[in-house]
Amino acid sequence: MSDLEKSLSHPDDPASKPGHVQHEAAAYGDEEIVHVHKQLERENGEPEEGFTPVPMVLMVCFGLLFFWAGMYFNKYNGDFRPDVFNPDWTPGGGGEQAEVAFDPIKRGDRLFRNNCAACHQADGKGVPGAFPPLDGSPWVVGAPERFVKIVMRGLQGPVEVNGNTYNGNMPSYGENGLDWSDQDIAAITTYVRQSWSNEAPAVAEELVAEVRSSIADKSGAWSSQELLDMHPME
Ligand code: HEC
Repeated sequence: MSDLEKSLSHPDDPASKPGHVQHEAAAYGDEEIVHVHKQLERENGEPEEGFTPVPMVLMVCFGLLFFWAGMYFNKYNGDFRPDVFNPDWTPGGGGEQAEVAFDPIKRGDRLFRNNCAACHQADGKGVPGAFPPLDGSPWVVGAPERFVKIVMRGLQGPVEVNGNTYNGNMPSYGENGLDWSDQDIAAITTYVRQSWSNEAPAVAEELVAEVRSSIADKSGAWSSQELLDMHPME
């Protein structure tokens, strides 16, 4: 029996009489109980089912990390240029890396298929009664300024093409419409002027720029008469 047990037990308690065997105390002394409790206290709580929210600190850390990564990426992406990222890149080397010269016909072909062909048709013959033809049209192969103006502001009201009268709405590809660049408008007009049976000279980007500044005040679509007043049919 330990000193502690002795001091706690009453002298009359039969358990404190010499010779009495305290089975319980012998099996598990106070020190041991304290020891086991300490062990239990060191153990983690039982895992529970359910949702534990992500700690705020962790979220802030990840936020900062993403922010930093974004800044880093933004600063060092090198515009994804091949001479930065492609180890096989050689200056002026052939293949895909070679600087491709701007080809107005190629560009115009694509612009035409994606934008004009729906109405004027892929063969440029238009749709009788609805969309006038571009193939063989004097509006196309005549004065380039007139054609550029049509593309830049659109056309509405009656218009006569090769003896047929149309009356519809042609959309604008200028500032009040799809806002195409001088280069694109030069490409589309050049392409249309040289496709199918058309054989008219190319339209220069400079001419498109001149026309653009000369019609800066014009807001809506043209009527054909307005255009004919400025550029009579040849
Ligand atoms: C939504 C249909 C539509 C689209 C798209 C369209 N046009 Fe037109 N276009 C017309 C209509 C309709 C007219 C006749 C307008 C009128 O009646 O005043 C016309 C007239 C014209 C004319 C003058 C008449 C002629 O046939 O020569 C030209 C040139 C022309 N368009 C070129 C183009 C080009 C180039 C594009 C593409 C950049 C284009 N159009 C896109 C519907 C369209």
